[in-house]
Amino acid sequence: MKLAPPPGMRDFYPEDMRRQNWLFDAWRNVSLRFGFEEYEGPIFETLELYTIKSGEEIVDQLFHFADRGGREFAIRPEMTPTLARLVAARANALPRPIKWFSIPRMCRAERPQRGRLREFFQWNVDILGVDDPLADAEVIAVAAELFRAIGVTSDEVVIRYSSRRLAAAVLQDFGITPDACERAFQLIDRMEKRGGESFVEEWDRQYKEVVSGATVLDFLASADIDTCLKMITRTAGDAAHATAHEFSQLQRHLEHLNVADYCAFDMKVVRGLAYYTGTIFEAFPRTLDMRALLGGGRYDSLTELVGGPRVPGVGFGAGDAPLFEFLRELKRWPETGSKIDVFVIDADTELFPAAQRVASALRAAGLTVDYSYKRQNVGKQFKQAANRNARFAVVVGQEYRDRQQLVVKNFATGAQEVHLERELLADTARYLGR
Ligand code: HAM
Repeated sequence: MKLAPPPGMRDFYPEDMRRQNWLFDAWRNVSLRFGFEEYEGPIFETLELYTIKSGEEIVDQLFHFADRGGREFAIRPEMTPTLARLVAARANALPRPIKWFSIPRMCRAERPQRGRLREFFQWNVDILGVDDPLADAEVIAVAAELFRAIGVTSDEVVIRYSSRRLAAAVLQDFGITPDACERAFQLIDRMEKRGGESFVEEWDRQYKEVVSGATVLDFLASADIDTCLKMITRTAGDAAHATAHEFSQLQRHLEHLNVADYCAFDMKVVRGLAYYTGTIFEAFPRTLDMRALLGGGRYDSLTELVGGPRVPGVGFGAGDAPLFEFLRELKRWPETGSKIDVFVIDADTELFPAAQRVASALRAAGLTVDYSYKRQNVGKQFKQAANRNARFAVVVGQEYRDRQQLVVKNFATGAQEVHLERELLADTARYLGR
């Protein structure tokens, strides 16, 4: 009987782990460069944490279960509710700004498809405790910098952004009441997945009397930022003026942070999650038809919903699977071959204990070192060293017997040198460094 992993879940063989670690290193490195600190949470949470405010779509996709006492839990489908819980619990003690990142593994009962799995890793980057649009710009800059760091240019990817407050004001202008906005956002969010025709149909079923789906679709597709700002400041009150001001500040910060080329205003972005209150953004390939590579936004009341004081937040999540799909399409699949520093070779079985001592000393010096577990001739050991992609071979042979010398072969240059064991071990950086 052959057992495969469950649908939408992956095995990670060493070559897959190398690729995962390549991405995790890039995620971690960019986060640290921007001054973020890493945190983690539990793999499952109480079901309630997600039913409070994540929104219909996420709740429909939960893997949930009850323990023997009948308490209900769900495997985390996203990190933001956990983050809000952590921050709420220590809201008064945490120094501001709270700049945290995490790389959690999570599950959603989605229909598995290209770049969307049932189990995935999601890089989360969030700033809490800052009301200023500067924080919004900073997290967007982190996202743009990740693309830059992995060699994806602003011609290949775009971070589309908008604001829920702005979108709500525009919808109000069309006659949609504030209460109905959330529902309208869900419809707009689904448009990307289901297409314009299905959007118009759904919209007309609910709001045709107020404004037709076709009018809204036309507007969303063509509206530029100036039109929207003019529209809302003409009709709406002070709140709309504040939104317009925040929005222009955000744009200015994006320019100063040198990421404006990666960003574009797009009225169609509203995001599906229910807790967003302000800026929202999603990254898409510019030329490929793919779902979002990352998504995020501002959520100013989530800590209150989980029982804490108000701590405004803004951040994003980026999945590993969509990014790998994207890199595969770009034919920029990361090369992550396995490599070791040194392969130690013994010239005959009697010298094997000495070879093991040399290997131990080199490992203790911090090098990655291996040797053959089978006693075999030097030629075969060299072959194994080459298969392992070793940078050097260190041979324990006749010279060692006679004069305590080791032969060092550099595979990159082909050069061969002889050094006293004592000298080699005393300065591995010099003889075996990069
Ligand atoms: P989200 O839009 O649900 O937002 O997910 C964000 C990103 O996670 C997506 O753009 C995609 O890259 C990845 N993702 C989502 N579902 C899957 C899946 N089934 N397989 C692979 N990747 C997936 C959130 O989760 C928010 N909590 C993000 C956030 C953080 N907002 C503020 N801070």
